[in-house]
Amino acid sequence: MSDQKNYLVTGANRGLGLEFTKQILGVGHNVYAACRNITDIDELQLLSEEHQEKLIVVKLDINNHDSILELNELLKDIVIDVMINNAGTIGPLPYFENTHKQHFGSIDYDVWSDVLKTNLYGPVKMAETFLEQIKKGHDKKMIFISSVVGSIADDHQRAFAYATSKTALNKSVALLADILKDQEIKVLAMCPGYVKTRMNGGGANLEPEESIAGMLKQIERLDHESSGTFVRYNGEKINW
Ligand SMILES: NC(=O)c1ccc[n+]([C@@H]2O[C@H](COP(=O)([O-])OP(=O)(O)OC[C@H]3O[C@@H](n4cnc5c(N)ncnc54)[C@H](OP(=O)(O)O)[C@@H]3O)[C@@H](O)[C@H]2O)c1
Repeated sequence: MSDQKNYLVTGANRGLGLEFTKQILGVGHNVYAACRNITDIDELQLLSEEHQEKLIVVKLDINNHDSILELNELLKDIVIDVMINNAGTIGPLPYFENTHKQHFGSIDYDVWSDVLKTNLYGPVKMAETFLEQIKKGHDKKMIFISSVVGSIADDHQRAFAYATSKTALNKSVALLADILKDQEIKVLAMCPGYVKTRMNGGGANLEPEESIAGMLKQIERLDHESSGTFVRYNGEKINW
């Protein structure tokens, strides 16, 4: 297929990353599915039986920059059309039993530091590291799965670690859009909605299928004009 593309998806073993992988494979593209634990990936294994050469499972811990560099070395000859920085953490799980660690007065600074490492430094390090492969791609897109919780204007959740990690990620997306404009790379921050995944422990209202179908549409639409914006899965603009 001549319009076949290569996607690199992080956190591909469960939740939104797994659903991204399923839907991208479903329309015939290739997925480099990055997971930190490649021994406990039953659903991905099943998918790889169905999509033999199109699904390549690779190891990646985004908290470990050597692991990012090792993956880059492994994929050095691969052109990447779209990189989806999806892997992320809300903090220690179950979330509702650990919220005090993110609340003013009882903040656990080790937790904050871990969340920043995963949600902020990891995706930015991925952008720095995979720049050359993305420059060679046809689409030249870097996607960052953020959250409305990171919006200063629109959200007031008091989870210091998670909220600030996504706010800082959003600022990084705006910086990257500006820095990478001359290299024709488009960058987007997205909120998937409140989706039923491990992260939410049951309170969410949206199925992963709907969220991902919507986000893939926004990724498809992303162009130079919309680069550096922050949108919901359904295309609504979110205020920074
Ligand atoms: N679900 C929602 O309602 C919602 C809303 C707003 C934003 N988001 C964002 O959407 C993204 C995906 O979340 P989700 O809902 O799918 O949550 P999830 O089911 O908890 O999945 C998180 C994924 O990230 C991976 N991950 C975490 N730390 C990692 C690391 N250091 N290295 C590599 N992979 C790592 C996890 O791997 P393991 O399985 O090995 O832990 C897992 O694959 C996150 O960025 C999250 O902040 C989700």
